[in-house]
Amino acid sequence: MNDGRSIPQIGLGVYKVAADETAALVHGAIEAGYRHIDTAALYLNEKEVGEGVRASGVDREQLFVTSKVWNDRHGLDETRRAFHESLAKTGLDYLDLFLIHWPAPTQNRYVEAWRALIALREEGLVRSIGVSNFEPHHLTRIIDETGVAPAVNQVELHPHLPQQAVRAADAAHGVLTESWSPLARGRVLEPGSRDRQVLDAIGEKHGRSAAQAALRWHVQQGLIIIPKSTSLERVRANADVVDWMLDADDMVAIASLETGERTGLHPDDHG
Ligand SMILES: NC(=O)c1ccc[n+]([C@@H]2O[C@H](COP(=O)([O-])OP(=O)(O)OC[C@H]3O[C@@H](n4cnc5c(N)ncnc54)[C@H](OP(=O)(O)O)[C@@H]3O)[C@@H](O)[C@H]2O)c1
Repeated sequence: MNDGRSIPQIGLGVYKVAADETAALVHGAIEAGYRHIDTAALYLNEKEVGEGVRASGVDREQLFVTSKVWNDRHGLDETRRAFHESLAKTGLDYLDLFLIHWPAPTQNRYVEAWRALIALREEGLVRSIGVSNFEPHHLTRIIDETGVAPAVNQVELHPHLPQQAVRAADAAHGVLTESWSPLARGRVLEPGSRDRQVLDAIGEKHGRSAAQAALRWHVQQGLIIIPKSTSLERVRANADVVDWMLDADDMVAIASLETGERTGLHPDDHG
């Protein structure tokens, strides 16, 4: 990242993982080799992420934990309080990455939220800071007003929505792009769909699954991914996307699945 730290390229996302299943899932993912977990205040499972991390017995310094401040907590003091609440819930000594979950531009307080994150990083309780769902104009505004670029921008990104403009803006500012919903919440795997046919054919060629073909497409482009699954078997399979390559034809075929369709709201309309 642009702050000199490293982020594991593959993480486990725990949105919509029930709180009472989270600790075991996180523990199991870490046992399977994951070193990066992505949660948020909104997900109501930060406490259980912390429990899973501790239960794993893996050295804290080897792990990378992200959380996010929700839209109703923007503001210099409010975002600071929200961060402390998230940290306390995890029961960890520090977070590796803290993100502004959405710019929520109608409130127009995301620059203040960003100033709070800059101060928190200086105090050492969070090692890296970043944003999520920032369009290029939100990104340039916080950089212009504070002089500090986020380490990452976590955005909706999958074969339907490759986000070329966001990625170009991120790259221009040295910001890494992280793909949320890398499988479009499972929509690219819909049985009988053209997406599925294309991904199945590519998967078969490489002795892999359709999901692995889609996730490899991200990884091969240098994107960070945080696929979610409540099945440990699928969690394991989703990380098996590093020691093989898609060829140029595969990349073109997956690029042809672009529709511009989002699973969520446009960032200018959220919050
Ligand atoms: N920053 C933001 O605003 C934002 C928004 C949304 C998500 N996120 C983050 O991104 C993470 C991932 O996004 P997501 O959960 O929305 O969607 P996703 O990871 O694209 O897809 C998850 C869906 O795909 C299924 N799945 C996962 N692996 C599979 C496999 N190998 N084979 C078949 N099906 C598979 C899961 O079902 P099973 O669980 O049954 O396997 C689930 O239904 C979240 O957990 C969260 O951390 C961030």
